[in-house]
Amino acid sequence: MIFAVIMAGGSGSRMGNSETPKQFMMLGTKPIIVHTVEKFFVNSKFEKIIVMSPKTWVSHTKNMIEKNIGKTDRIVVVEGGSTRNETLMNSLKYIEENYGLDDEKYVITHDAVRPFITHRIIEENIEAVQLYGACDTVVPATDTIVESKDGAVISNIPKRPEMYQGQTPQSFKAKKLKDIYESLTEKEKDELTDACGIFVKKNEPVRLVRGEVFNIKITYPYDLKVAKALLEEETDD
Ligand code: CTP
Repeated sequence: MIFAVIMAGGSGSRMGNSETPKQFMMLGTKPIIVHTVEKFFVNSKFEKIIVMSPKTWVSHTKNMIEKNIGKTDRIVVVEGGSTRNETLMNSLKYIEENYGLDDEKYVITHDAVRPFITHRIIEENIEAVQLYGACDTVVPATDTIVESKDGAVISNIPKRPEMYQGQTPQSFKAKKLKDIYESLTEKEKDELTDACGIFVKKNEPVRLVRGEVFNIKITYPYDLKVAKALLEEETDD
């Protein structure tokens, strides 16, 4: 059983002055989150599309989806957590309570603020997670990545051909993800900024899936400008 988990539990602080978390801001004729949910909704392989929303935005999210996509029981809105990983764990809790967790449950987790996800990327995540148990969507790094431990001088320059930029979806066997996360210490949990890191920390393989440069994450006001341009291109196709 395959579930889409749309990560929309954040507040979008880097977007700046807005009271409205960025995932609810308009992009063209509809909110960013609606563009994203639609891409998953049309894929019949998903048992459910689980939309993780900030606590105070749950009913707003439900209304927004009903208004734009219609009434459907294939989309459910669930309360997110105070960190991205907590939001992720809340989605697993929902699956566990409603379907039970076993080795045949897979989650394709995706940032609500990456509306330019393609059907190919979704399909390749579904395929890879079923074959390998975990996968991450990446693009080769174009800039040289420079490491600095103190933020003042370079401590290392990794070989660029071995560097990738992580996007989403990130997909996992749901039970394994929960089991590994729960085995981490509180300190290890705090250090994890990336869900794939949960697997990497325990030496569990995470397969790479090819992303797209245009599968951008809308983070800053600048990204919204880029997104508007990309949307025009998508509509022109
Ligand atoms: N996210 C989430 N739950 C959280 C934090 C983030 O579901 N507690 C989601 C965001 O809604 C977003 C995605 O994870 O779709 C990627 O995170 P990011 O771009 O960092 O979003 P925010 O945390 O909202 O942004 P910021 O760091 O600027 O506040």
